[in-house]
Amino acid sequence: MDSSIFPKSFAWGAATAAYQVEGGWDADGKGLNVWDTFTHQGGDRVFKNQTGDVACGSYTLWEEDLKCIKQLGLTHYRFSLSWSRLLPDGTTGFINQKGIDYYNKMIDTLLENNVIPIVTLYHFDMPQALEDQGGWQSEKTAGVFEEYAEFCFKTFGDRVKMWITINEPYVVAKYGYEDGLFAPGKKEQGIGAYQAAHNMIKAHAKAWHNYNMFFRNQQKGLVSIALDSDWAEPFDPNSTTDKEATERYLSFHLHWFAKPIFIDGDYPEIMKSEIFKKSKHQGLQLSRLPEFTNEEKVKIKGTADFFCLNYYTTRKIRPRKTTHDEPSYSSDMAAEGIKDPNWPISSIEWLAVVPWGIRKLLKYIKDTFANPIIYITENGFAQSNPASLEDTQRWTYFQETLLEILKAIKLDRVSVKGYLVWSLLDNFEWISGYSARFGLFHVDFHRIDLPRTPYISAIEYSKVVKRNGLTKPMECFGSPHNS
Ligand code: GAL
Repeated sequence: MDSSIFPKSFAWGAATAAYQVEGGWDADGKGLNVWDTFTHQGGDRVFKNQTGDVACGSYTLWEEDLKCIKQLGLTHYRFSLSWSRLLPDGTTGFINQKGIDYYNKMIDTLLENNVIPIVTLYHFDMPQALEDQGGWQSEKTAGVFEEYAEFCFKTFGDRVKMWITINEPYVVAKYGYEDGLFAPGKKEQGIGAYQAAHNMIKAHAKAWHNYNMFFRNQQKGLVSIALDSDWAEPFDPNSTTDKEATERYLSFHLHWFAKPIFIDGDYPEIMKSEIFKKSKHQGLQLSRLPEFTNEEKVKIKGTADFFCLNYYTTRKIRPRKTTHDEPSYSSDMAAEGIKDPNWPISSIEWLAVVPWGIRKLLKYIKDTFANPIIYITENGFAQSNPASLEDTQRWTYFQETLLEILKAIKLDRVSVKGYLVWSLLDNFEWISGYSARFGLFHVDFHRIDLPRTPYISAIEYSKVVKRNGLTKPMECFGSPHNS
């Protein structure tokens, strides 16, 4: 048996997000979102104060993106809807038809080319009008998000069958409302991230129920949420304190969202007890971690039809010494993640390349969350600018990662059904601007026509997609205990 082949009907894709590729920030009635505001404010929070105003120009150059997708032979394409392009002030009070037309064109042409759309409703770009009313820190936003989701199901759900409500709520909460590194740039340590996460979980659950109740029977689609997670293991595998720190690290990141949604509607016990303990020490009566009511727990539990995993890297974990006097997420978690100096670093400092981490994480998700169907909705490696089209090293990383996924499927029996590369195109990489290139296709940002050119990785990936397997046949892996 040739072990290099993936299961039948495996989904091969690539992903993008509206703010990172579309440009057209004020075109045709689009409303402002928090990234428009954040980048326009300057202040050196983004590399060279770059913005997504033009980005890859996908708003006008969609046909060029489609050519890339066809050249790769993808079966699936994941993209996000710009909330404020569709609903300029975030509410259904005013609908921008030009936005609907744009996404209709994308969805229809994808389907004409036998490419299945996977659509994310929210990928970091909250309408500014809603942010002005508290954004994710306001409970009201959960209800407004449900209306937006319902509007999208109604408008596009006859053709879109795979929905992702929110991309990486961890990143939104932690970077957007705790550290202030990402839009909306709020730095409310030890409070902001927990509030934002709380309302995102509620928003997701509301959207899932809305679909379940009003659309599922007729449209027969699936709804999930994309969770990012590092693989994490103890710095010293024999140290009890390192093992405990690892448990905290996973609880405060993956389980923060996955436990309520996939298991029981509530936060991990470790988060609840640690934050309560520290809140008390800081003189507070109540925990800084908000609580779900029993009714909410019932509504949140079981609100994902499959598991979307965004995997980039791995960390070795040990306790972080803190005083606990000042409230913060980091001192609540009291764990730090270390990069092994032997791991190669991609062009982005946090992205240590650890392909074997994905296999371990997949097995962990299988064992912890009752063997869900998993789509890897993002995985990728950045090159620095200027990037060579001959990215052979990067293609080696992709191959190594795919081999680990194959092992997870064949040896560990994890139900992985798809793999999507981040990203189809080089694009606006948040605070790194255009300095980090994640694309399968190079984009020349200096030229007005923003030409797309395949990297070696794109050419090689298209062969994998075509073969539904790695390009070199392999001997059988052998027994499930081999690695
Ligand atoms: C993810 C995010 C993407 C992309 C990627 C690479 O966190 O969803 O938008 O930027 O990281 O850093």
